[in-house]
Amino acid sequence: MLKQPSQKYRPFPPVHLPDRHWPNRTLSRAPIWCSVDLRDGNQALAVPMNVGQKLEMFHTLVKCGFKEIEVGFPSSSNTEFTFNRRLIEEKRAPEDVWLQVLVQAREDLIERTVESLIGAKKAIIHLYNSTSPAQRRVVFGKSKDEIKAIAVQGAKWIQERLPRLKGTEVMLQYSPESFSATEVEFAREISEAVMDVWQPTPERKMILNLPDTVEVAMPNVYADQIEWMCRNLRNRDSLIVSLHTHNDRCTGVAATELGLLAGADRVEGTLFGNGERTGNLDIVTVALNLYQHGIDPRLDFSNLNALIEVYERCTGMTVPPRQPYAGELVFTAFSGSHQDAIRKGLAEWKTGRTENWDVPYLTIDPNDIGREYREVIRVNSQSGKGGVAYLLESEFGIVLPKEMQREFGPLANDEVDRLGREVSGVELRAMFWREYVERTKPWQLQGFETESRNGLVRCHARMLRDGTPAELHGEGNGPLAALVHGFSTIGVPRFEIASYSEHALSSGEAAAAIAYIQIKHSDGRTRWGAGVDTNIELASVRAVLSALNRS
Ligand code: KIV
Ligand code: ZN
Repeated sequence: MLKQPSQKYRPFPPVHLPDRHWPNRTLSRAPIWCSVDLRDGNQALAVPMNVGQKLEMFHTLVKCGFKEIEVGFPSSSNTEFTFNRRLIEEKRAPEDVWLQVLVQAREDLIERTVESLIGAKKAIIHLYNSTSPAQRRVVFGKSKDEIKAIAVQGAKWIQERLPRLKGTEVMLQYSPESFSATEVEFAREISEAVMDVWQPTPERKMILNLPDTVEVAMPNVYADQIEWMCRNLRNRDSLIVSLHTHNDRCTGVAATELGLLAGADRVEGTLFGNGERTGNLDIVTVALNLYQHGIDPRLDFSNLNALIEVYERCTGMTVPPRQPYAGELVFTAFSGSHQDAIRKGLAEWKTGRTENWDVPYLTIDPNDIGREYREVIRVNSQSGKGGVAYLLESEFGIVLPKEMQREFGPLANDEVDRLGREVSGVELRAMFWREYVERTKPWQLQGFETESRNGLVRCHARMLRDGTPAELHGEGNGPLAALVHGFSTIGVPRFEIASYSEHALSSGEAAAAIAYIQIKHSDGRTRWGAGVDTNIELASVRAVLSALNRS
């Protein structure tokens, strides 16, 4: 990088708008939305969608509630043309959905585009040409007047062909492409020249789309440009002013939101921001940002996961894990203090005492968009026993007694330390199983029977002791007391049951129970054991053997 970037790059010239209004405004309603997934988004895919995929995306967009969908660039290829024809001939578009098509100011392309729309119920013909100084100089080598003439001629060619679209409700749209890098005065001049051809009225408006084709300035500058246009354009009331931002400086959403404050009526963008380079505007984010402020976005993202699935399958793109609202991790808390605050916030919300959602760290209720809040307890060598216990309980329903947590926590931490990395819940469960449940040396249970008479329980246990058959008989006031007594009769040093608990295992282990037993040796040493079995009595016998095996 350069030590003095000013030798190569220059600041972006501000718009002169000292009495700008937009900073004092707030948003109170949703704009008109237009999805450009099937055109701008599709153009930016390594492998563009085929007709089947475009159809699936189209229906998905309709289901979300889009009423304006830019379906393609029908003059650019047979696939695009065919897709348009199929939408129309197979009557796939609901009557209230506008099919928008993009076209350059070239007569042959306009001709083909109009042909692609015959029979449509509602159509938006979107004409564009590029207007910025760099485009005028580098790409076209034309003066402002010559660039204006291109737009005017394109507008006329479209106008002349409108009679061919009898029966179709047509709306016209013009984009001075690269608007945000264009002098506002010239953007106004060229837009008004197109308006002179199309003659929009308040009853029959045209769309003036003002694209941030490449984000070259901060979003407040785009807002100034939009407000300047809205205030200086002739016949503003005959226009639907539309925003179309890209995300080169990562402020596409901000630019759109400020552009709406600045007076725009309509927003073009794509699902999850797919589009050229850093992408188009992410419409999902803007819509859900409105929702977060209590404004009905008039787009339905109740099942965001299903939408992501269709999007990823059709486009071959992936939604990054930290994408606002949609990313896999955005409703996940890793930090203990965040988890604590969220738990308290959710508990308060559940009481119904608070009127509005105000849960720390969760901007909206994930359930509203079909998602779930998730806590991730990461266990590393620094983690406390609480983290270990929480993970076992939340993922596997293993509820360790408090005192057993004090025994297993450090054992788990030692092993994690040895591995030198964080461990998952599955790994932690495996450690627990190895440490307690799967121990078979020296004692391994082969069979256990009891009979009780007059309140006295007699037991008969068959076992392997270091692989050699062994058995015991014992008696006591319960099966465990009988077992403990039985061990004393075969020369095992005396011990007693110091603590006992058990519960059913909820997941994975069909109808199994787990028992936790702490034994205390005559020298005062204590050991925990755990046993799992479909029979609760056998689970506790196994737990005793587990504790002995660990002694
Ligand atoms: O980014 C852009 O300027 C465009 C235009 C064609 C509207 O996609
Ligand atoms: Zn674009």
